[in-house]
Amino acid sequence: MCGIIGYIGNNTAPKILTESLKKLEYRGYDSTGIALLDNNSRLVIVKASGTVNNFKKKLDLNKLTGKIGIGHTRWATHGEPNNINAHPHTDCNNKISIVHNGIIENHQEIRHSLEKSGHKFLSQTDSECISHLIEEYLNNNDDIEKAIRHTANTIQGANVVVIIHKEHPNKLFCFKVGSAGGLIIGNGNNEMFVSSDIPAIIPYTSTVTYLSTNEIAIISSEKVEYKNLEGISITKKTNTIEINRDSISKGEFKHYMLKEIHDQPQAITDTIGSRVSFTDNKIKFEKFPFTNQEIKEFSKIILIGMGTSLHACMVAKNWFESITRIPTEVDNSSEFRYRDIILNEKSLIISISQSGETADTIAAMEKFKSSNSKQITLSNSPKSQTSQIADYTIDIRAGLEIGVASTKTFMCSLTTLYLLSLFLGEKRNSLEKTKITAQLSELAKLPRIISNMLDNQNQYKIIAKKYYPYSNFLYLGRGLNYPLAMEGALKLKEISYIHAEGYPAGEMKHGPIALIDQNMPVVVLIPKDKMLDKMLINLNEVKARNGTIIAITTENTNYIENLANDIIFIPKTSDELIPIIMSIPMQLISYHIALNKKCNIDMPRNLAKSVTVE
Ligand code: F6R
Repeated sequence: MCGIIGYIGNNTAPKILTESLKKLEYRGYDSTGIALLDNNSRLVIVKASGTVNNFKKKLDLNKLTGKIGIGHTRWATHGEPNNINAHPHTDCNNKISIVHNGIIENHQEIRHSLEKSGHKFLSQTDSECISHLIEEYLNNNDDIEKAIRHTANTIQGANVVVIIHKEHPNKLFCFKVGSAGGLIIGNGNNEMFVSSDIPAIIPYTSTVTYLSTNEIAIISSEKVEYKNLEGISITKKTNTIEINRDSISKGEFKHYMLKEIHDQPQAITDTIGSRVSFTDNKIKFEKFPFTNQEIKEFSKIILIGMGTSLHACMVAKNWFESITRIPTEVDNSSEFRYRDIILNEKSLIISISQSGETADTIAAMEKFKSSNSKQITLSNSPKSQTSQIADYTIDIRAGLEIGVASTKTFMCSLTTLYLLSLFLGEKRNSLEKTKITAQLSELAKLPRIISNMLDNQNQYKIIAKKYYPYSNFLYLGRGLNYPLAMEGALKLKEISYIHAEGYPAGEMKHGPIALIDQNMPVVVLIPKDKMLDKMLINLNEVKARNGTIIAITTENTNYIENLANDIIFIPKTSDELIPIIMSIPMQLISYHIALNKKCNIDMPRNLAKSVTVE
């Protein structure tokens, strides 16, 4: 959550910080702020509640100077999202300024003890403890590095912090404890950047270093020194990042979300990419760490994730079971991390986190590391924190996703999971060769099918215009399409703020049916697959209660036409791959409804792109 930026160099810090914050805004947009050591050696802080654009209105960039500074875009945890609680925070003497991402679990204790020693707090945040703690340690010892290390060792929880100090105008300090989101240091030409994520750094440099947990960085414009929390110097590897700079712009599209929906044919092509050899129908995962014997001996798979990634897990459970014949379960990471589950070296945990930063997923992975089970993680950010825990990371290759609602990362997670299930199935001989060949040839058609689906959005626009005033929606599906019903409902609620629920269709008559009347549109996912007859029964039940039906189907049957108020057609593919193309109507219904409702589609209220707190 929260986006952090830092700059030191010869260019104008206020401009760089503000532009960079705009690129990190997807991480939180409750408030925005920067702190600078200006050309008159003053510590200047400007902040405002709300988005970066709102902040910019408050700011006369031309009046601000300084070659060093820090910035922050907030997703509030402690204290409401107002101006006072906005970062950066300071100490009592306005010498130190900090920006923070994470939660300080012992902040009340620290605050109480600092207040007793005379410190005056201005905000309700946990973050403000940090600047006062550094100040307190500096009162006893004037070694700033020691004070920062001491602070890092005192605060509990997962935290990332960047600090400037008026008396150290040529240095930026940062530290990371635990897994509260990334901190990336970018090496420019006589200038250095610090950021929570790549998009803010990529316009300036592609040479980066990732700060790990329990590390501190002391940054000047020419060099970075890395130390552990005991103060011992460490050497870190620099990486060159490859990122398509165009992927950061919205291009011709009104919203990132729409652009990212349109990126999907290319993204899915990249996901399949070199992993499939269509000449001999082989699937390959580079440097796959487990032997064929280990794969044959897997006795249990557990898929974990949150939100949209959890829905990808739910689809994949069906694939892993039927293709690999390994008993498979799914759990929400935040529940899984507290379970007393029985695992051993024959268990395989597959976690999905597009950001690689989700706190609950990281905690679940860490907790079961000691169980000897094997771990694979899927991520859209392969150098992220989840990849440091797993035995093996699979890059889902969706490309940068900025819209807060996941779209292409969902589709690419599904595609990767499908490939992984085929790969494991082949190694276990649980799948006939002809079946693999047939499935791969269907998979190869998906980019074209999806591209055609995106070319005609009229049916979605018509439906959105008709249904956007409704306040409640029910989504129903069965089998592989039940998780898609959940995903459709999630997309709708998060970007249009309409209440929506996704249910397995068979569950409907056990309660939700009480809600059905003409004011409750029911989106029924009813492709022509082995569940068709069962779904038709549910369709009839909705109709009998005067429900309004929007059916999504692969082809027309008279039954569906007679029962549904509106129909959306999607192309045919194999039953197994339907959920991948079913994501398109789930995305476009929500997008066009939210557009009609004039919602802030790329930055829905209360949300953030990566959830780095529990
Ligand atoms: C919804 C959405 C969220 C994320 C969830 C997990 O559109 O994006 O539900 O899927 O917060 O995020 P990751 O995949 O980064 O772990």
